[in-house]
Formats: sequence, C-alpha cells, structure tokens
Amino acid sequence: MGMLEGRKGIIFGVANEKSIAWAIARAWHEQGAELAFTYAGETLEKRVRPLAESLGAKWILPCDITRDEQIDSVFETVGKAFGGLDLLLHSIAFANREDLKGEYLTTSREGFRLALDVSAYSLVALTRRAAPLMEGRPASILTMSYLGAERVIPRYNVMGVAKAALEASVKYLAADLGPKGIRVNAVSAGPIRTLAASGISGFMDMLHHVETTAPLKRNTSLEDVAKTAVYLASDLSSGVTGEVVYVDSGYHIMGM
Ligand SMILES: NC(=O)c1ccc[n+]([C@@H]2O[C@H](COP(=O)([O-])OP(=O)(O)OC[C@H]3O[C@@H](n4cnc5c(N)ncnc54)[C@H](O)[C@@H]3O)[C@@H](O)[C@H]2O)c1
Repeated sequence: MGMLEGRKGIIFGVANEKSIAWAIARAWHEQGAELAFTYAGETLEKRVRPLAESLGAKWILPCDITRDEQIDSVFETVGKAFGGLDLLLHSIAFANREDLKGEYLTTSREGFRLALDVSAYSLVALTRRAAPLMEGRPASILTMSYLGAERVIPRYNVMGVAKAALEASVKYLAADLGPKGIRVNAVSAGPIRTLAASGISGFMDMLHHVETTAPLKRNTSLEDVAKTAVYLASDLSSGVTGEVVYVDSGYHIMGM
C-alpha cells in the first residue's frame, strides 16, 4: 500500500512535463493519492490536461492565481468532489523578465508587486481556502523555494525577495494551522531546467556552478525533489512543520 493511499490532493503549478509540480504529482499519485489539477490559462490547458488525465484526474480546473474568483471556484469544486482535502502543492512563481537581469536596484514598484503577489501571496490565498477542507485530516501543504530567498544570487533579484516572503509565510501559516493538525513546509530546490528557470538569465552558469561546487557534485533532479515531497506529504514527516528542506545536492552548506 502506498504512503498516500486514500489521500486527496490538489496541484497548482504544472505547465508541462518538465515542471517540478508534475514530478511531485506523479510521485504523490504513485503513493496512492487522488489528485485534482489546475492550469493558468488556455494555452497551458492543452499541455496540462493530457498529463493530468494520464494520472486519472477527474478535476482539471482553470486558476490564474491573481484572480480570487477563480481560486474560490477551484476550492468549491474540489471541496464538493473530494469531501475534504489532505494535500496541496503550491509550485508557482512569476516575475517580469526585465526584473530577472541586471541589478535588483532597478526593480519597479509594479514588478515588485507582481512578483510578490504571484509567487508569495498566492500561498496565503490558497492555504486560507484549503484549511477548512483540511481540518481533522492528516493534511500537508507544500511550496517550492530557492536559496535566493536568503543569499544573493546574481540576477535572481526580486524573485529572491519574493521567496524570502514565501519562506516567512510558510512559518506564519504553519503556526496558524498547527493547532488544526495542518502542516506547512517548503522545499528549497537546487536549479533545475524548467520553463520558469529559462526566464533567469545566466541559468546555465548556475547549473555548472552547482555541479562543480555542491558536495554531491551533481545537479538536483526532479526525482530528488519528488521523493522529498512524498516524505513531506506523508506520515513520515508527521512532526515536521514550518520547515524549509533543502534538496540541492548539499550546495547551501558550502562557504567556499
Ligand atoms: N526550476 C528551478 O530551478 C527551481 C528551483 C527552486 C525553486 N523553484 C520553484 O519551483 C516552482 C515551480 O517552478 P518550475 O521550475 O517547475 O517551473 P514551471 O514553469 O514548470 O512552473 C511554474 C508554474 O507557475 C505557474 N504560474 C505562473 N504565473 C501564474 C499565475 N498567475 N497563476 C497560476 N499559475 C501561475 C505556471 O503556470 C507554471 O505552471 C516555482 O515556485 C519556482 O520558483 C524552481
């Protein structure tokens, strides 16, 4: 029997088969979870729908995370369909391309607002709707972060600031929801080639740097992240909340 047998979950953040969210969804499904999926806009629906259907998903719903009415509709549908919720994956981030090069200093007010709204506030918006469905169940909420939250990564800029807000949100949400038995954690992953990563200038240099510097002397794989996501979703991590777990080949421990 899988570690997530009988659990109901919802996945936010699949764009294509290279998405971290897709790797996690497959791993959760392999462990027995039944999953609903969301997609951000019609163009992505064409990619997400066949992937989700390949895992037997019955609920594949539109959700632009900046639109409250779409979020409400998703949780209404999923709440009725599943009669509760055990797992939520938030694997969403966005910043304007011009804010992911050059200096952080030049970030515009609008660029800052957009990055923080889509990449950090969205976790609060989703968690608030999920919590009533999760009460009394072995519930786990998981989000995706990166080392740029706590150290300066050249060109990561406003996304680093958004990830700092996201990681702080993980802690505050974990404190709010702990008494209800709902856990909230983040995985801080090393760089992986995905659609979102292609927006960060110099990304190939980051991959090379990690490969030569990290203790494991290799980059992080989607499978590395997915396996930790199973741990954080399952009872194996029943005592863990408010945590940022590094899945980065050990890169973050290095000083020089
Ligand atoms: N790839 C990496 O190197 C890496 C490393 C650490 C953390 N992360 C984080 O992992 C998460 C997933 O990214 P990924 O690398 O799998 O890339 P991805 O492009 O596959 O996923 C990003 C997702 O964000 C969604 N999104 C963006 N704007 C949205 C909106 N307004 N409404 C709803 N969804 C929206 C996209 O549709 C997409 O599915 C992100 O939070 C990213 O910052 C990625």
